Amino acid sequence: MSRLQLSRRTIVRMFPASLIAFASATCARSVKTTTTLAPTPACGNDTTTPSQTEGPFYTPDSPQRTSLLEPGLSGPPIVITGQVLSSNCVPMAGALVDCWHTNDQGEYDNSGYTFRGHQFTDAEGRYHIETIVPGIYPGRTRHFHIKVQAPNQPVLTTQLYFPEEPANQGDFLFNPVLVMVVDNSDDPQKATFDFVLA
Ligand SMILES: [Fe+2]
Repeated sequence: MSRLQLSRRTIVRMFPASLIAFASATCARSVKTTTTLAPTPACGNDTTTPSQTEGPFYTPDSPQRTSLLEPGLSGPPIVITGQVLSSNCVPMAGALVDCWHTNDQGEYDNSGYTFRGHQFTDAEGRYHIETIVPGIYPGRTRHFHIKVQAPNQPVLTTQLYFPEEPANQGDFLFNPVLVMVVDNSDDPQKATFDFVLA
């Protein structure tokens, strides 16, 4: 008789079948609940970051920089960090991350490059954007516009949103899976979001 058979018999003697069945069912339920409750796309579960419209205010050829802060600009500072990952969780080094957004009054700079900039992810696929919390303009909730492109791959154009923003529910473009994790107890505020590319 093998050690495995012995230990199974021992377990059955120690715990009645009904108790083992209950434990198995409880375990199965908790695994299912965890899966169901994860709203933000993460690598490794066959979901990718959804695209959203570019909108009318994109300007190509933004400057390469990680900080969009400039002297004289106002607004609560925020740092957005995260990774660009493939759908099977491989960090995408050298991926383009292009960000543009309004000033704290909800206005875009459509003649220059204020609050516009692009960068490339590091060896771990990480990006780092220093900027301000954008304002709100009519019809839209608070958001960042982002383009992400791994080397030689298609461009993902999308937007990022803030949690607990009152205007989220009335925004026809708002998508809850694009909400950043934001810690506003710090100065600057800290936001995180990982992009998962197909
Ligand atoms: Fe916008």
